[in-house]
Amino acid sequence: MPDCCNPGSARYEDVFDARFARDLARRYRRRGATRFERRMVEHLASLGVDDRTVLEIGGGIGELQLELLARGAAHTTNVELSGAYEGEAVALLEERGVARRATRIVGVDVAVDGDRVPAADYVILHRVVCCYPHAEQLLAAAARHTWRALVFSHPPRTWLTRSSVAFGNAWMRVRGHEYRGFIHSPGRMYDALADAGLAPAALSTGPRWWVVAATRAAPA
Ligand SMILES: C[S@@+](CC[C@H](N)C(=O)[O-])C[C@H]1O[C@@H](n2cnc3c(N)ncnc32)[C@H](O)[C@@H]1O
Repeated sequence: MPDCCNPGSARYEDVFDARFARDLARRYRRRGATRFERRMVEHLASLGVDDRTVLEIGGGIGELQLELLARGAAHTTNVELSGAYEGEAVALLEERGVARRATRIVGVDVAVDGDRVPAADYVILHRVVCCYPHAEQLLAAAARHTWRALVFSHPPRTWLTRSSVAFGNAWMRVRGHEYRGFIHSPGRMYDALADAGLAPAALSTGPRWWVVAATRAAPA
């Protein structure tokens, strides 16, 4: 398994660290998938997950992958810039008896090194584009990796989300972290998907997260 071959990884691992991973795993074991995650899983289930493959970009501990494996997905691949999730992720995969159907890749940025990542029926990015400076490039690369559909979430561009990210970034600066959050233009992100041959449509909207599905008109 490659580890931190991307020089940008350190800025993510600094913030998305072992403690962050532990908190996510504890919450998931106690309460299961969040409502945003359930929305994504339900949508993919409606398209059919049996024997399908899934690529999740920035999937953290892999809750979405566990849910989809439980529903019959053949194989999942997680690509992460932070290596701090691996212990919790592997423990969860083993607890659920699905470790052999999952691959975890660390330190590869799909927007830069897409050739190193396998394509899949479905691609997911949950709470990821707002952590990455070049959302359009990342989504275009993600779109190239899906044969059927992509689901992703992003914060809406409101004064509330912009102020909260500006406050968070100021805090990161004070703490000496290089990591920054972003509120990208939804229109430009959807255009990037449309240019790659996908048709994006919102599945749910709200003050914190919008969940968007983008389907390929004619599956490859
Ligand atoms: C807020 S966390 C979300 C993790 C997980 N999706 C969740 O919802 O719990 C964002 C994650 O995206 C990852 N990330 C950001 N840009 C990425 C990229 N280009 N490729 C892979 N992972 C990326 C970061 O390392 C970080 O772990």
